[in-house]
Amino acid sequence: MSDKISVTLTVNGQPSTVRALPDTPLLWVLREELKLTGTRFGCGVGQCGACTVHIDGQPNHACLNAISSMQGRTVTTIEGLAPAGDHPLQRAWIAEQVPQCGYCQSGQIMRAAGLLNEKRRPSREEIVHYMQPNLCRCGTYARIVRAIERASKEG
Ligand code: FES
Ligand code: FES
Repeated sequence: MSDKISVTLTVNGQPSTVRALPDTPLLWVLREELKLTGTRFGCGVGQCGACTVHIDGQPNHACLNAISSMQGRTVTTIEGLAPAGDHPLQRAWIAEQVPQCGYCQSGQIMRAAGLLNEKRRPSREEIVHYMQPNLCRCGTYARIVRAIERASKEG
């Protein structure tokens, strides 16, 4: 028996209609249905930030938002941040050689993009505070801060 529902949302500027069980996390719809695998599964319970996307323009955890809550909403993933991959943050990430294993990095960039959308020139303290929800097991925090500072100056 299927209790799947149809949900239409906008993902990276494209209207998308998906069918899924109501409590399916947005994360699995993005990865499994829409094949947008840049958004990562870390903890699944809102504790690591690996799954960070923008929902209606705000950083949010894709693992915590059920697809049933997504009707009519707008989602941006790392694939849609800048279609050519040349967002100022992405350029800064390369310049500062931020990633180590890379697993957390799409979530880090999406959270950083939320910060720069809110505040064009954040202080170092504001960057550190804002980025706290996103964990990096490889400890790239210092390079993340430097990259955000670079993007805020050069973007
Ligand atoms: S996978 Fe969503 S916060 Fe960890
Ligand atoms: S680069 Fe490895 S977890 Fe962050």
